[in-house]
Amino acid sequence: MEKKDLEKIELDLMLEAIVRRYGYDFRNYSKASMERRVKQAKVKLGCAEITDLTRNLLHDSVFFQKLVSDFSITVTEMFRDPEVYKTLREKVLPYLATYPFIKVWHAGCATGEEVYSFAILLHEEGLLERTTIYATDFNEDALSTARQGIFSIDRTKEYAENYRKSGGKASLSEYFHAQYDSIVMANSLKKNITFARHNLVTDQVFGEMHLILCRNVLIYFDRTLQERVFRLFSESLIHNGFLCLGSKESLKFSTIVSEFNEYEKRHKIYQKKSSL
Ligand SMILES: C[S@@+](CC[C@H](N)C(=O)[O-])C[C@H]1O[C@@H](n2cnc3c(N)ncnc32)[C@H](O)[C@@H]1O
Repeated sequence: MEKKDLEKIELDLMLEAIVRRYGYDFRNYSKASMERRVKQAKVKLGCAEITDLTRNLLHDSVFFQKLVSDFSITVTEMFRDPEVYKTLREKVLPYLATYPFIKVWHAGCATGEEVYSFAILLHEEGLLERTTIYATDFNEDALSTARQGIFSIDRTKEYAENYRKSGGKASLSEYFHAQYDSIVMANSLKKNITFARHNLVTDQVFGEMHLILCRNVLIYFDRTLQERVFRLFSESLIHNGFLCLGSKESLKFSTIVSEFNEYEKRHKIYQKKSSL
């Protein structure tokens, strides 16, 4: 048997070991991206074979946590794809403003930059006070950074430019203060945000949301898993609620496509139909 076939068996066994030992299910993540990440993890954690990773993670939960952090790609930025934020500001928030209270769910929020960006948007449109934001991820390390709201100062210029392009009404610097080589997001933004661990593969529906943002998460999932998550989202949304996906993600081939209207096609913003 060739080495690459052996590695396929090893990978399957490792994913099975993870789900049985820790309940984290990576079996329906896209195979290509899983193989890449396992290759990197082997080098980083000093393991010659995938089987060594498996042995270690079974007996050492700290080792497993490190591996999970490596498995989860947390690349993110403030006001990522500014045009999407502009559209949310101009087309979605006026609709949400008609409700007495608003519930927003950021699924796969990583280190929180997306969440603080949206909180700024809500503040500028006078909606933050009546909004509850739930921001979830399965990566505890990322969530811990998100809760603190402390980010590297290096990207501030880029973020300020994104903010401007998104239709920002003030100066981004009004929403943070600098501390050594970091920026600390304002407490007034954090007030209505709840950061919590939630695994999209294994956990259940999350309240009656008016808007769900799940951007750049589903690209790592295979079709089966995407389907599960879309169903979860549909069940978590109120009628006429909105779903905002990443630029490379779409409801197009999903079985729930008929439950939604394309509200802003270009920016992957969907609205759940009022009657199904
Ligand atoms: C590339 S980041 C996207 C961050 C942000 N939404 C954005 O677009 O900038 C993907 C995030 O999805 C999270 N993720 C991956 N699988 C997950 C799962 N099963 N449940 C919850 N979050 C998951 C990762 O931990 C990571 O933080």
